[in-house]
Amino acid sequence: MRRIAFINEKGGTCKTTLAVNLGAWLAREKGKKVLVVDLDTQGHCGKSLGVDVRQASRTVLDLLVSPEVSVPDVALSTALPNLWLVPSNKSAADFPLLVASHPDRERKLEQKLSALEGYDFVLLDSPPSTGLVTTNIFLAADEIVVPVALTYLALDGCAEVLGTVQRMQEQYGKADLAVTMVVPTLYRRTALAEEILAKLRSYFPETLCKTALGFNVKIDEAQSHGRTIWEYAPKSKGAEMLEAIARELLVRGEKRRKVSAA
Ligand SMILES: Nc1ncnc2c1ncn2[C@@H]1O[C@H](COP(=O)(O)OP(=O)(O)OP(=O)(O)O)[C@@H](O)[C@H]1O
Ligand SMILES: [Mg+2]
Repeated sequence: MRRIAFINEKGGTCKTTLAVNLGAWLAREKGKKVLVVDLDTQGHCGKSLGVDVRQASRTVLDLLVSPEVSVPDVALSTALPNLWLVPSNKSAADFPLLVASHPDRERKLEQKLSALEGYDFVLLDSPPSTGLVTTNIFLAADEIVVPVALTYLALDGCAEVLGTVQRMQEQYGKADLAVTMVVPTLYRRTALAEEILAKLRSYFPETLCKTALGFNVKIDEAQSHGRTIWEYAPKSKGAEMLEAIARELLVRGEKRRKVSAA
């Protein structure tokens, strides 16, 4: 089981878009069993998958704070076979307060996922911030995907994530935690975007995703209709780019497994 976190503390870098659509591609095209865990109070994974998260009787908060609740109790099936969702909503904002006195508060998610079986992929969608929730995500994940929007402040958030990965490796003994892929997103042919892309290439010669997710309005439209790109516009340029990114994620995991088995 690959546990992959989509993280960038900067907002609007396509974390949710990638978690949901790559998850849906793996489920639909590859028949993988995929669980998307939404850890953002915005509840955008649910919204992107057409799930009314305000009505959800149990959410990721119950999973994180209630010892008797496990993933099957909160995971909802979606319109796509093989794709499940642990939804989130505003209630998740109470998490830090509810567990403030728990010595294991940083490992709540890890504890719930370590007992989990039956999925090929667990994809963790992060909020655009750092704090107790993101520490839980880092500790529960084996792999990190960092989507970087090709905008002026993009490299900032990216550097923060890499610093945190290093801290997790050193401070929490997560030696295996690795950045699997840095994905350039919201790419447009501008001088600034090209400049940032060139910088990313030099910083991440190994991990930079070969496909930059270009700006494509169908991706935005799909989300506003609560559908994945594969349902809404499977022949669009957006679908083509997301498929290339999904394929690369799949291949990189296989390479990683071979390296660690060697
Ligand atoms: N390739 C794209 N082309 C056009 N719009 C896109 C593309 N990818 C994502 N978007 C839109 O950009 C917005 C931000 O994307 P998304 O919600 O995935 O980012 P995020 O990193 O999860 O944001 P947050 O930090 O708020 O959680 C959304 O409205 C989404 O529909
Ligand atoms: Mg998001």
